[in-house]
Amino acid sequence: GKSGYDHFMLKEIHEQPRALRQCLRGRVDELGGQVELDELAGVRPTTVQFVACGTSYHAALYGAELFREAGVPAQAFLASEYVTSPPPIGDALVVGVTQSGETADTLSALREARQRGARTLALTNVVGSTVARECDHTLYIRAGPEIGVAASKTFASQLAALNLFAFAATDDHDREAIGALRDLPSTVQEVIDDSTAASVAEAYHDADAYFFIGRGLNYPVALEGALKLKEITYRHAEGFAAGELKHGPLALVTDNSPVIAITTGDGELARKTVNNVKEVEARDAPVIAVTDGQSDIERYADHVLTIPETQPRTAAVLANVQLQLLAYHTADQLGRSIDKPRNLAKSVTVE
Ligand code: F6R
Repeated sequence: GKSGYDHFMLKEIHEQPRALRQCLRGRVDELGGQVELDELAGVRPTTVQFVACGTSYHAALYGAELFREAGVPAQAFLASEYVTSPPPIGDALVVGVTQSGETADTLSALREARQRGARTLALTNVVGSTVARECDHTLYIRAGPEIGVAASKTFASQLAALNLFAFAATDDHDREAIGALRDLPSTVQEVIDDSTAASVAEAYHDADAYFFIGRGLNYPVALEGALKLKEITYRHAEGFAAGELKHGPLALVTDNSPVIAITTGDGELARKTVNNVKEVEARDAPVIAVTDGQSDIERYADHVLTIPETQPRTAAVLANVQLQLLAYHTADQLGRSIDKPRNLAKSVTVE
């Protein structure tokens, strides 16, 4: 049942600390500052290609960035496009990210890769799923069952599992980053407990469109925030790389199209995103900032959704929790069918 929540999606958003704890359990050696994944013993890819769809594709974009940060060439592909025009594979490990393990496009992309001689890895939630049976290796995200059609806790668990995978496969022993990952269940809990997303949703549930912007690891978070919002509210929402806004999309920005800007840290990325926010503010667009308070974005924002200060990798997960709640409360105020949005199915088994 829904355990007292109005919707499974809200229940599953609240279950994220537990889902993350399950994902991390026994896999992080806290004292040694290292990640141990028995199922991936000896897997040290020199190149990684991720294939996935929808929300899982956003996780894949994030995963590819983690590998590139460690100096390993990595790229994320939409599974349907990977099949349409397969890239050169070389010695790449091809990783299918699919919570259900049954998505036809993703299974086809992995079959295509295998046919060309690639080794494959499944990152999935479902034990015994088709993807787990067909791939050379499987890493389970252990999120527990998800009933809501819109992915929430499985996305958070995918990001955590991708961190584990990247730490283990690149022999990364960064104690601070590993510690932040270990603490993720409790920091996610903090974000859920302190979120003011419901009142922000109240202010904007009548907007014409919603634009989400972010850079680096926050770019896939922007894409995911927009997908979640459009899926369950039926409102127009788009995610952009913050730097792209001025190359066209800015023409769409009005005083009734809130711009949700995700920026964490106090570095170059934050400074540039704040500049992009100034551009939309000059067009009178309402600005909702998702921030850890390290930049001065609050000065240009009408509303702020705050997350605790943490490492960039974990900040992306925390920012996403705020966007899940923003989408959920907007849809709830509009009276939408949140757990079963029109035209959508939980797992898509046709290409
Ligand atoms: C969005 C959503 C979909 C799925 C996509 C892939 O909330 O759930 O975009 O992410 O259909 O599904 P899986 O991960 O099962 O391959």
